[in-house]
Amino acid sequence: MPEINLPSTSAMLSKDFLFGVATSSFQIEGDRGGRLDCIWDRFCAEENTISDSTNGDIACDHVKLWKQDIELIDSLGLDAYRLSISWPRVMNQDGTVNEVGMQFYVNLVNEVVERGMKVFVTLYHWDLPQHLEDNGGWLNRDTAFEFEKYAEAVASTLGEKVYSYATLNEPFCSAYLGYEEGIHAPGKTGMANGRRAAHHLLLAHGLALKVLKRLCPNSKNGIVLNFSNCHTIGSDSNDLEAAKLADEYHNQWYLQPIIDGKYPDVIERLDADVRPEILDGDMDLISQPIDYLGINFYTRTLYKSDGAGWFEVVPPATTELTAMGWEITPDAFTELLVDLNQRYALPPIYITENGAAMNDELIGGEVKDDDRTAYFHTHLNAVDEAMKQGVDIRGYFAWSLMDNFEWALGYSKRFGIVYVDYETQKRTLKQSALAYSKLVKSRVNGY
Ligand code: NOJ
Repeated sequence: MPEINLPSTSAMLSKDFLFGVATSSFQIEGDRGGRLDCIWDRFCAEENTISDSTNGDIACDHVKLWKQDIELIDSLGLDAYRLSISWPRVMNQDGTVNEVGMQFYVNLVNEVVERGMKVFVTLYHWDLPQHLEDNGGWLNRDTAFEFEKYAEAVASTLGEKVYSYATLNEPFCSAYLGYEEGIHAPGKTGMANGRRAAHHLLLAHGLALKVLKRLCPNSKNGIVLNFSNCHTIGSDSNDLEAAKLADEYHNQWYLQPIIDGKYPDVIERLDADVRPEILDGDMDLISQPIDYLGINFYTRTLYKSDGAGWFEVVPPATTELTAMGWEITPDAFTELLVDLNQRYALPPIYITENGAAMNDELIGGEVKDDDRTAYFHTHLNAVDEAMKQGVDIRGYFAWSLMDNFEWALGYSKRFGIVYVDYETQKRTLKQSALAYSKLVKSRVNGY
């Protein structure tokens, strides 16, 4: 059976480095009846939005099966579990707390903590209450203030039992895919919408961060951003310039305001009516210090010039692809981490997601996902290499604990290290889970 190995001297094998798995509420929970509708419920009900026409009504039935799922994580020997809270499960429409919904997370967090694992909570992993979307969603500045109230309700209940809070997960996806490209909920389009949503999301981050610092000063409070290196095929100067613009527009747009308090230069290229409205004090709120930066990495992206001063995406150039059609590029992971570390004065980093969808088959009770195991092996070593080059990385979370609802691709793509049979809800450890667990457990003999 293929293994995941790190050099025996790797700092990732020291007792302080955390290994975990990650999930998100809408992707696994089900129990739609126990919460308000969110933008993904509405989006899934529309035609031609989800490739297999599924939805999150049942998903992995985690609200029922949560105890056994936590036991499973513990059995793998992991140090930490990253989960997200469903805003529409814990808040009622009138702004009061849904006590039953909140209690679900109290129990969940207690169970993880009692088992000796650390809890990483994300407050927003894309499931905006639909009634807020009906009021404009992230295009409406008020939504950021609603988020602040929701953050207050969660932080005052779960408190510092939560080792780490993240305000948002991948605001790029919420803003660009949800409000600019329209391939994610709520399916709105247009550059002005995307930039506006992004600014309000960052504002929501700043407002919630303030709450977290006040109520949970000993938790590690930060944000989770996704990055994909912007590469070109060849070195044509127009293409290189296009890739630089893409990097600023898709990656740095979310990090630079947080670290440096300003949007990247590409903002100057946008027409005045496309630029977000930035009010006095916004950038100060957004750029408060964070305790850590969560980084999600999956692959690089190729770009070229569109011939008109902007960029366009180029299809993969290599043959090694995941089931998502994404290139497998571990070297780009190291490059990205080293590059960000050089460009910015960053706080400590957690790799909050990394993983791959593969064409898994459950045969005779086994899933021989050698390809996924190899992905983890090369990408964990890429992290090790970045640490050797001076990047301060404190933990790594595999995406995902189990197969789940992969947004616009429904249940057709499997990212789990645990296989889910959606008919029976039976969980089966894939060989990648066994390999990951073996690595993690081997640390007892490490240093
Ligand atoms: C990032 C997102 O946070 C997660 O929800 C998604 O399933 C993975 N990428 C894989 O696409």
